[in-house]
Amino acid sequence: MARIFVTGSTQGLGRLAAEALLADGHRVVAHARDAGRVDDLAARGADVVTGDLADLGQTRSVAEQVNRLGRMDAVIHNAGIMTGPTVLPVNVVAPYLLTALVDRPARLVYLSSGMHRGGRPELDGLDWSGARPTASYSDSKLLLTTLAAAVARRWPEVRTHAVDPGWVPTRMGGAGAPDDLRLGVLSQTWLATSEAPEARTTDGYWHHRHRVDRHPVAGDHDFQDRLLDALADHTGTPLP
Ligand SMILES: NC(=O)c1ccc[n+]([C@@H]2O[C@H](COP(=O)([O-])OP(=O)(O)OC[C@H]3O[C@@H](n4cnc5c(N)ncnc54)[C@H](OP(=O)(O)O)[C@@H]3O)[C@@H](O)[C@H]2O)c1
Repeated sequence: MARIFVTGSTQGLGRLAAEALLADGHRVVAHARDAGRVDDLAARGADVVTGDLADLGQTRSVAEQVNRLGRMDAVIHNAGIMTGPTVLPVNVVAPYLLTALVDRPARLVYLSSGMHRGGRPELDGLDWSGARPTASYSDSKLLLTTLAAAVARRWPEVRTHAVDPGWVPTRMGGAGAPDDLRLGVLSQTWLATSEAPEARTTDGYWHHRHRVDRHPVAGDHDFQDRLLDALADHTGTPLP
């Protein structure tokens, strides 16, 4: 039985991951902006932490709440948004800050997207605060995929992966999304818990439990270091 923190567990892929992990007998730390949204998960035994991941102070508080519960075996960085000025804070800054502040787990999984391949490998001119929209969803997912690769390199003892869940019918994906929602949740729960040799690797980019290629810039050490420096500057919190 593992203890797994899932960000954004109110609906969509995060909720499905939390439900699947609970059904498999794992301990889950669910996350919502409003605890009432995950009452049913709490009733099934999940611990609950709260906070808006668009806000640096609330994100720090989420990390403190998680650390008070004890060390996690795995964290699934699932919460994400498609549009709006807070795409960078929610999709990139919050996963970075939680990675830096939550007591280091054995496994880390970041929800990327196939759309990261269309992202711009560019750090200049980005407004990390979210006051101005300076990045697309694709840009944010390329940065998140690079963050995952950077963490895998900095912390080789932590099994760290990024996942493309496919285009699936959630609020974000829309009702007409063509891929299978059931498959969309497989990789992240498997990477967080499985003892299979493939799941016990690191620095992978996965789609439906298969390793696939990611944008090559995610593996560029110079780009990784510049991204970590920019996020450390913005948050005032270096990656330990
Ligand atoms: N659906 C797809 O086709 C698809 C494809 C590729 C990648 N992904 C990725 O998969 C992940 C989950 O997507 P999804 O389709 O399940 O999306 P979703 O149904 O829109 O759910 C997103 C989750 O993130 C939470 N969240 C968003 N902004 C937040 C904030 N500021 N603070 C705290 N929580 C926040 C939401 O909470 P609320 O309910 O409070 O808004 C919700 O729990 C995302 O990272 C997404 O980019 C999805």
